[in-house]
Amino acid sequence: MTTYQITTELGANKKDKIEADQLGFGQVFTDHMFVMDYEEGKGWHNAKITAYQPLELSPAAMVFHYGQAVFEGLKAYATASGEVNLFRPDRNFKRLNASNDRLCIPKIDEAFALEALKELVRLDRDWIPTAPGTSLYIRPFIIATEPYLGVNPSKQYKFMIIMSPVGSYYKEGINPVKILVEQQYVRAVVGGTGEAKTAGNYASSLKGSELASQQGYSQTLWLDGKENKYVEEVGSMNIFFKIAGKVVTPALNGSILSGITRDSMINVLKSKNIPIEERAIEFAEIVEAAKNGTLEEAFGTGTAAVISPVGEFKWLEEVLTINDGQIGEVTQMLYDTLTSIQYGTMEDPFGWTIKL
Ligand code: COI
Repeated sequence: MTTYQITTELGANKKDKIEADQLGFGQVFTDHMFVMDYEEGKGWHNAKITAYQPLELSPAAMVFHYGQAVFEGLKAYATASGEVNLFRPDRNFKRLNASNDRLCIPKIDEAFALEALKELVRLDRDWIPTAPGTSLYIRPFIIATEPYLGVNPSKQYKFMIIMSPVGSYYKEGINPVKILVEQQYVRAVVGGTGEAKTAGNYASSLKGSELASQQGYSQTLWLDGKENKYVEEVGSMNIFFKIAGKVVTPALNGSILSGITRDSMINVLKSKNIPIEERAIEFAEIVEAAKNGTLEEAFGTGTAAVISPVGEFKWLEEVLTINDGQIGEVTQMLYDTLTSIQYGTMEDPFGWTIKL
């Protein structure tokens, strides 16, 4: 680990906290943030924790024009014994560097980033909500800041971490969500940026999500960009199906986000000897399973989404109802196992949690 000095400038005022039932997702931010600069020839420098405040950037900053931006999402959990758990934060910084590589952004020091994150969480620890199902969502991100309109990798960046106390991502909470299978638009193609956690992937998903929402669906299920046939992901979560006792999820093929919750749930399933396959899945197979009664469960996994049961898919004119719109047994078991590890109510047999 490179040792950088972090300068801390405490904010003058503390903001009022929000009641747990008013939290929603990502609307309020804690008192402080972390920021570090990069300049070609100098590397990453000027690591600071400051009051949460607006940034001053040139209107020519390259992020505004060519979208060189990557981000991560992880959470800090208040445990019943008064401690704070982080869930696999090392994996987030590893993935941030993989996204950096794809977007030609200079890599960060992962071990230092984790230390900086811990220091920030310690400072704003009283922002971690304690009501059931709430947590502190942590958003590390990097943007290109060089004021230049040429299409090149920027020579200047900012690496920042902001934090937001959150409740559930979907208004449905743990109740099953309804998902529209997208036909017209695609999210990513193999060889593109689908595997990276970059802003543009989310921008390109908005149109489909908006159309889904107009039809009363919470999210869009993306199919592959080449044949419009194979299941990819939901955009804010990876997707799993349980068909005739076996759990299946799309294999990481280069256009799907390598979800940390996805990986964790595959490991939980294996530890319980529940068959799990990572492979290409045609959506037609899901329709067939729904029709012949073998589609038992469907659920999404993600940091923000946690484990979200899917109660319905709409594909063309077909409406597929899953498990009578109720949460399934395996989905519930995964939700309980994951959240018990995260909130420290169960021993963590996988060594995934890191105490602050
Ligand atoms: C997350 O689960 O952390 C995500 O990044 C998904 C979404 C809120 C963009």
